[in-house]
Amino acid sequence: ASRLHTGWAGHPTVFLERTDSTNNEAKRMAEAGASHGTLVVAENQEAGKGRRGRSWSSPEKSGIWMTLIMKPEFPPSQASMLTLVAAMAVAEGVRSVTGLEAGIKWPNDIVVNGKKICGILTEMSAEPDYINHVVVGIGINANMEEFPPDIREKATSLSLELGEKVSRAAVIAEVWNAFELYYDKFLENADLSSLREKYEAHLLNRGKEVCVLDPKGEWRGVARGIDRNGRLLIEQTGSGDEGLRAVDSGEVSVRGV
Ligand code: BTN
Repeated sequence: ASRLHTGWAGHPTVFLERTDSTNNEAKRMAEAGASHGTLVVAENQEAGKGRRGRSWSSPEKSGIWMTLIMKPEFPPSQASMLTLVAAMAVAEGVRSVTGLEAGIKWPNDIVVNGKKICGILTEMSAEPDYINHVVVGIGINANMEEFPPDIREKATSLSLELGEKVSRAAVIAEVWNAFELYYDKFLENADLSSLREKYEAHLLNRGKEVCVLDPKGEWRGVARGIDRNGRLLIEQTGSGDEGLRAVDSGEVSVRGV
């Protein structure tokens, strides 16, 4: 059976029956002095948050809603890469517990059989040159039996893809076991240079056409991988412009897997 064998991630783990959002809960706890490695897990979120101000539906007892509190020593500029580290950990954890082929849609959606099973929301409190705390929030659709019609084409759960319920405790343990290993690699350079190959092995966009929407307009290219800062490297097509362009997740929205 899978169990948590980390040195710090998930120590302690705080289980809540309900909260507004585990990210909000984790931020409040971090401000009140909770230590690096504290994990908040909730059965139910009344106001789960997604990226770009969207809400995140969090039905009771069927999902994994959790947030890790971190108080790292690297500069604030590096913190957004934790999301990519977490994405790798989820892909790895899901694969090891379920055998499903979980892949990553850059930067941080986890996809099984073409549909999203997990989203990650990282939030930071920082001064210009140091981090007060970072919270890494992970939502995994574990045991939902169905989805509303409007998202059925785009979202799925582990149990729907597997045909049986999954142990949420096992997935939680394996995600953080993997996260801690990858995080050590990340700390070697405070960037993704030691993790690039591993991330790219899970990257579903690789070799695929992507459409990029940036402030200057829309353009197309083929995704080739990521750089050491987690930017997506895109070979531009049909423009006469040779070479790779690196795009940042904050600036662009990449369409198409
Ligand atoms: C996204 O893909 O838009 C990110 C979704 C992140 C959802 C998780 S669930 C646990 C944590 N608490 C939140 O309120 N959001 C994250």
